Amino acid sequence: NSQLLGSRGSLIVLEGLDRSGKTSQSAKLVSYLKSEGISVESWRFPDRSTSVGQMISAYLANETQLDDRTIHLLFSANRWEKRSLMESKLRNGTSLVIDRYSYSGVAFSAAKGLDTEWCKAPEVGLIAPDLVIFLDVSPERAAERGGYGTERYEHLEFQRKVAQHYANLQDASWKVIDGCLPVEDVENQIRELALNCLAKCRAGKPLTNLWL
Ligand code: TYD
Repeated sequence: NSQLLGSRGSLIVLEGLDRSGKTSQSAKLVSYLKSEGISVESWRFPDRSTSVGQMISAYLANETQLDDRTIHLLFSANRWEKRSLMESKLRNGTSLVIDRYSYSGVAFSAAKGLDTEWCKAPEVGLIAPDLVIFLDVSPERAAERGGYGTERYEHLEFQRKVAQHYANLQDASWKVIDGCLPVEDVENQIRELALNCLAKCRAGKPLTNLWL
């Protein structure tokens, strides 16, 4: 029972390259957890519904141009504007499954050549995930999967750089799953990791802030 007095929800993040399968796996995880009676919400970053999110969306669609540092800070601001809601949901016992978070923020901006430490700085103080599931798919395999869309970062060369930066960001909260396994295998591995994480948070694992 996730609603025991004082027990908190978990912050679970899915990360991976574009076309790694994060989005469909997040949806599968959330519907599974809901079917188990767990209080959980599906979130994603960028959250394109806010005014900051709309600026990000226009940039990604190549409708506007922004300096690399400026767009980096907008992605970060887009997480900051959700921080207090995130904290209250977690403290009230609702778990959040989030498609992309600060790791995307750093990996994508660092892939453009920005300094990693500079990229991490505005993320300091955001809530640290209890679990980061990294869906590992090579940039080449990801590109083969029905191809990329037309957004700014959806190019093989760039995704190769992003993959290198993701590799440098792995910390104790990360679990890497082979995203080329059959979909059901990936799904089952994610379920197990998530259930384990939910149990630890319910048992009193404290909420912490980035970066750990
Ligand atoms: P997303 O909306 O997840 O893309 P998709 O169209 O694949 O569903 O993310 C859009 C792009 O933004 C994606 O290429 C990753 C990038 N990104 C950043 O550069 N910085 C960030 O902080 C985040 C969250 C995403």
